[in-house]
Amino acid sequence: MMPASWWQSGVIYQIYLRSFQDSNGDGIGDLRGITKRLSYLAELGVDAIWMSPIYPSPMADFGYDVSDYCDVDPRFGTLADVDDLLAQAHARGLKVLLDFVPNHTSDRHPWFAESRSSRSSPKRDWYLWRDPAPGGGPPNNWISDFGGSAWEWDEASGQYYYHAFLKQQPDLNWRNPTVQGVMHDVMRFWLNRGVDGFRIDVLWHLIKAADFPDNPPNSAYTPALGEMDRLLQLRSTDQPEVHGIAARMRALAEDYRAAGQGERLLIGEIYLPVERLMRYYGEDRPGVHLPGNFQLIETPWQARSLAVLIAAYEAALPPGAWPNWVLGNHDRPRVATRLGESQARVAAMLLLTLRGTPTLYYGDELGLSDVPIPPGQVQDPRELRQPGKGLGRDPVRTPMPWDDSAHAGFSTAAPWLPLNADWPARNVARQSAEPGSMLALHRRLLAARRTHPALAIGDFALLDAEDDMLAYERRHGAERLIVALNLGARPQRLALPDWAHGCRPLLSTLADSVPAQDGTLLLRPNEGVVLTTAD
Ligand code: NOJ
Ligand code: CA
Repeated sequence: MMPASWWQSGVIYQIYLRSFQDSNGDGIGDLRGITKRLSYLAELGVDAIWMSPIYPSPMADFGYDVSDYCDVDPRFGTLADVDDLLAQAHARGLKVLLDFVPNHTSDRHPWFAESRSSRSSPKRDWYLWRDPAPGGGPPNNWISDFGGSAWEWDEASGQYYYHAFLKQQPDLNWRNPTVQGVMHDVMRFWLNRGVDGFRIDVLWHLIKAADFPDNPPNSAYTPALGEMDRLLQLRSTDQPEVHGIAARMRALAEDYRAAGQGERLLIGEIYLPVERLMRYYGEDRPGVHLPGNFQLIETPWQARSLAVLIAAYEAALPPGAWPNWVLGNHDRPRVATRLGESQARVAAMLLLTLRGTPTLYYGDELGLSDVPIPPGQVQDPRELRQPGKGLGRDPVRTPMPWDDSAHAGFSTAAPWLPLNADWPARNVARQSAEPGSMLALHRRLLAARRTHPALAIGDFALLDAEDDMLAYERRHGAERLIVALNLGARPQRLALPDWAHGCRPLLSTLADSVPAQDGTLLLRPNEGVVLTTAD
């Protein structure tokens, strides 16, 4: 086997920038805040961080509406702060990924102002402008992911523009070669500064069907769902030409490797069924290194369903493709809320012992839950536009609780979103001192990945998926490990394969470990165990 790359053996830690650490007392997290907390991340044992967008932005969608791709929003810091963060992270062996938002800009980006100024503007074609439908009204039935028509009428120039998200986020026209060129320049701007790669926002959205046909209705729609779910986004997303776009981005990243400047990683944010997801690894030419795999967020938490999903995902991977797993992010409910606190520990073990690169969402290492946001404090435009449907993302974006000092050590001022109610007890300082804490479990799991290549890069084989038991093997060279997870609240028994008789516990999600006896491992309720056959 080839030696693994850093992005294969490593663990990525996702930081929601506004909520990680404030350094200047305005209640909003910033770059210097992250730099201050790098030692925490290094001690935790992760290998790379990716942070939500840092660019100047009117913040209609909290940075996913970019008004200048080559600068830093003053609320987050300066370019010098980025350089300092990169230098200090690299000195600790940590890689740094930015969030690249190529699908849309802010409506206040000078490009859009120019595009909007007239039909004959040289930048008119940088965005998606269309005439009204023949009978009047929007050009087609496409719905914004945040609700409402995805078309906004521009009275002055007499056309509609397309926005997959807010109307303040007009979509760029990625079929235009000039747009491609300037966005490639943006990527180089950051890569030349030393950034180790990008998480690419909504990669599967970049190309829409050329003739803008209607999306078909979704027969599974119910009013409890968001309005976007009325339709299947079959025409507005995931068009074949997107793979050429991804391949060109990959080629650009590969230039750095060829020049001896290290491997620069591209992770695509893509919510698609597995078969279509796999195409983003590339077909004739390599695509992104890691098309984001969000299935653990979306699959029922049952041993059988998980086993089927893992097996199907592994089987669908194209030759040479490296897997990846995600348990939570800034758009979806937190794992502790979805599964409960006890099972979240088992989920952490799953995330950090499956084959493939894990992404750990900040705060999940403390077992943070979704924080209820009082109506007057709602910030997320998604919640404000479609209230009460549980679509809001503020609850999963609350400040990191560091200690039990004022504002949990996150800021010297009231934070932009409320803290978790239990912050005086659930915080980094407290959990650092408790050997049985969720944080301590994460540190142990991350340390085990470093000392056991079987966990970081080994082969995977499913052993058992019955009742609430999910068990698998990880193997590298002479080392064979067993991971056994009890996904329920009743004890479970695993009959060990012959080769594993005599194995010993390496790690349990509970405080102590119970050895296997007579070829049988007994798992306590909500317990996960890693067993090793090494002496
Ligand atoms: C996906 C991001 O993860 C989400 O937070 C954002 O609102 C949309 N893309 C629009 O950029
Ligand atoms: Ca700040």
